[in-house]
Amino acid sequence: MDLEKQKTLLGENFLRLLYRLVQSVKIHQDNNQLLLDCAKEFNEVLAPWWVHERSLMISMSRDRFYLEEEKLPYRRDNLSLVQEMLDYFKNRKLRGLRFFAAIKDASYDNILSFIRILNKAEGQEDPIDWLVMQLSKRKEFSWIQIEKGEETDLQEHDLERKELALKGYFNALTSLKELTDKLGSQKKVGVRKIKRIIQDMMDMHTEDKPILLSLSTIRDYHDYTYTHSVNVALLSLCLGKQIGLSKMSLRKLGICGLLHDLGKLDIPLDILNKPGRLSDEEFEEIEKHPLRSVKYIIQLNASNDFKVESFLPPFEHHLKFNLSGYPRLNRKKSQSLFGRIITIADVFDALTSARVYRPAPFSPDRALETMLEKIGEDYDPILLKLFINMLGIYPVGTLLKLDTDELGLVIESPEDSDKARPRVVLLLSDDQGRFRKGKTVSLEELDTQKGSYLRNIKKSIHPSAYGIQSAEFLL
Ligand SMILES: [Fe+2]
Ligand SMILES: [Fe+2]
Repeated sequence: MDLEKQKTLLGENFLRLLYRLVQSVKIHQDNNQLLLDCAKEFNEVLAPWWVHERSLMISMSRDRFYLEEEKLPYRRDNLSLVQEMLDYFKNRKLRGLRFFAAIKDASYDNILSFIRILNKAEGQEDPIDWLVMQLSKRKEFSWIQIEKGEETDLQEHDLERKELALKGYFNALTSLKELTDKLGSQKKVGVRKIKRIIQDMMDMHTEDKPILLSLSTIRDYHDYTYTHSVNVALLSLCLGKQIGLSKMSLRKLGICGLLHDLGKLDIPLDILNKPGRLSDEEFEEIEKHPLRSVKYIIQLNASNDFKVESFLPPFEHHLKFNLSGYPRLNRKKSQSLFGRIITIADVFDALTSARVYRPAPFSPDRALETMLEKIGEDYDPILLKLFINMLGIYPVGTLLKLDTDELGLVIESPEDSDKARPRVVLLLSDDQGRFRKGKTVSLEELDTQKGSYLRNIKKSIHPSAYGIQSAEFLL
């Protein structure tokens, strides 16, 4: 078994036993055999860990448990347990528990009295300080350390992260606008800034993929081309990462995503924003933009290598998988890998954005369905499947009408359980129809009495139908 799996398994067993312990001490005396067995099992589960490590931290952050750095997955069968333990930690303002190898030598009585203290902490005026004081008074608890985490600290950390992500996004928009303005006025433009933007996006991905996907739900009706280009870069990077591209390749792919529509600069606005059907001449004008993107990339003040690596995917981004798109080619040569990736990211973002000619955009899940109809024709079948797998059936930012008459906005798609039952934040409206965030729930949650799901999806709606900008509630 590889180390990651081993950690996940340890984490789940560990959490399950901790849960059993905190529940069992409530009803049994210390000399109860069941309870002693539970304490024994707890120590046994940890034993393999102490072969190579001296301490083990279980911590909670943003409604997830981590074993050291490893996020414990949510699964249908551990969902209520995880939920109860999250509440258990929150009620005690606990951020984490660090166990040391010395627990190997702790008596079962000793372990059980720690659990009793832990239980008693709830209801104290200042649970965490009370807990720390109780434990520091007694040296037999040298194997445990309490990690404090005021809810506000956690929230602040979360806010900081999101703020930084948003800053990065708007910085990318500004830099792209600057670059376009300069290109439009024939000024020399370097590529240092856009390389930096892509590097920042890649760093963010390593830390937090959901935040990157949340950023890609930002829409700006008036500055469509810029937000669209940044979103295409974000989505392409995520898909590139999914198929295991190297860092160097990801860097190149991100840049291509960011620059793919540069050629739109030359399309007159009255054509670009025309509400009705385009005439043949107007459409011809639109069809020129991939080649014009190439022209602008060649104009950049960058090395020849940079230009050679960056021009092909933008040239190909409206060329479909079966080569039926535009520009029409005499020599049929299949799309490059980056071209195929960008085509998918491009269409997904375009379909889910409101445009003058399509005021009611597709909800993200509907956009994926529509794209699936053209799998193998317009899109590379393997890449499209991976893209859907990455986003989930209900991608982040999808607004769902539930059978409880609640509205839920998808904040995370389950990685390893039922993809049709994502985690959502409930949106509550006031008298004026303004929305605010309610609690976060998983659609996998069961009504324990009836054994059925608490909430089911009735249908998905595009957030714009309620005047909602998903990103506002995600970031
Ligand atoms: Fe385009
Ligand atoms: Fe595009």
